[in-house]
Amino acid sequence: MSGPTLASTREELAKLLAPARQEGREVGFVPTMGALHDGHASLMRTARERVDGPVVVSIFVNPMQFGPGEDLDRYPRTLDADLEVCAANSVDMVFAPSVDEVYPGGLPQVTVDPGPLATILEGKTRPTHFHGVLTVVAKLFGLVRPDVAVFGQKDYQQLALIRRMVADLCMGVEIVGAETVREDDGLALSSRNRFLDPQQRRQAVVLSKALRAAQARAEYGVPAARWAAMSVLKSEPGIELDYLAIRAADLGELPEDHPDQHGPDEAEGKTKGRVLVAARVGTTRLIDNLPITLGSTKPGSTNGKASTTTGGDPTKEREYS
Ligand code: PAJ
Repeated sequence: MSGPTLASTREELAKLLAPARQEGREVGFVPTMGALHDGHASLMRTARERVDGPVVVSIFVNPMQFGPGEDLDRYPRTLDADLEVCAANSVDMVFAPSVDEVYPGGLPQVTVDPGPLATILEGKTRPTHFHGVLTVVAKLFGLVRPDVAVFGQKDYQQLALIRRMVADLCMGVEIVGAETVREDDGLALSSRNRFLDPQQRRQAVVLSKALRAAQARAEYGVPAARWAAMSVLKSEPGIELDYLAIRAADLGELPEDHPDQHGPDEAEGKTKGRVLVAARVGTTRLIDNLPITLGSTKPGSTNGKASTTTGGDPTKEREYS
């Protein structure tokens, strides 16, 4: 197994990519912050399947996307182990630049304004986060010039914003969204999971359980799905909920108060949506999400299925954020 070639400067990266560019082969790209796990590895394999040329992984802990008091300093840095993950997943090149290499002379004067989509959900708790994410991804796209870039659905709002940036700024990169890789009990893999002690690790499972509960009730509409997720979340007092939200697949608002009126992506009375959750377990903030297919049936309506729900009026549950 021959490992990937490591580049730490822009110049080294450009030299490594030159032959593929001359031969007209496609370049695949997986941007990461390191501390690589099987979730990242699945993105690498997806990139490998999508292009006939080199797959590049970047490893860069981007200071610009961390707010004050966030975990920039305690973010795990594990380059040797990361290179092994890349080698095992047929990555050709790893770009691991220093902060100065990415931001020579300090932060850039011209940056990417992520727009209104960055003010909801994660953006409420982390108001400067997506500004930093989109700016660094735009820079990395400029350095790697990929044909295809793969991002995880795990960070769904990030994926939606990157799609939006590429479309709005005509960047000409194909964006692939890869499914979330999970532990056997459902917990989404995350570099932050290592901060959970055994009790918190058990408590953290409630996030994915709540999402699955929402998924199972989604055919009865938004309030029923939210009620199902909230009752699972409330069963675990060890977590501090930040938000539980049900939105359209593009993260637009759903017409939840008028369940007979369908939103975007409608087909045969069904609306494609997304249920998203963020919560603190101890000092560790976790996020997760799942796709849902929303029906227009009001809870307690004629088919009677929704009336099996007990313990309160599902329509009383509002978005918790
Ligand atoms: P990072 O958190 O390292 O994640 C890199 C990529 O891996 C992201 O696209 C993320 O969605 C994906 N990923 C993380 N956990 C996953 C899982 N369990 N299953 C599938 N994919 C998963 O996201 C970032 O870095 C940064 O914001 C970055 C885009 C690199 C910009 O700095």
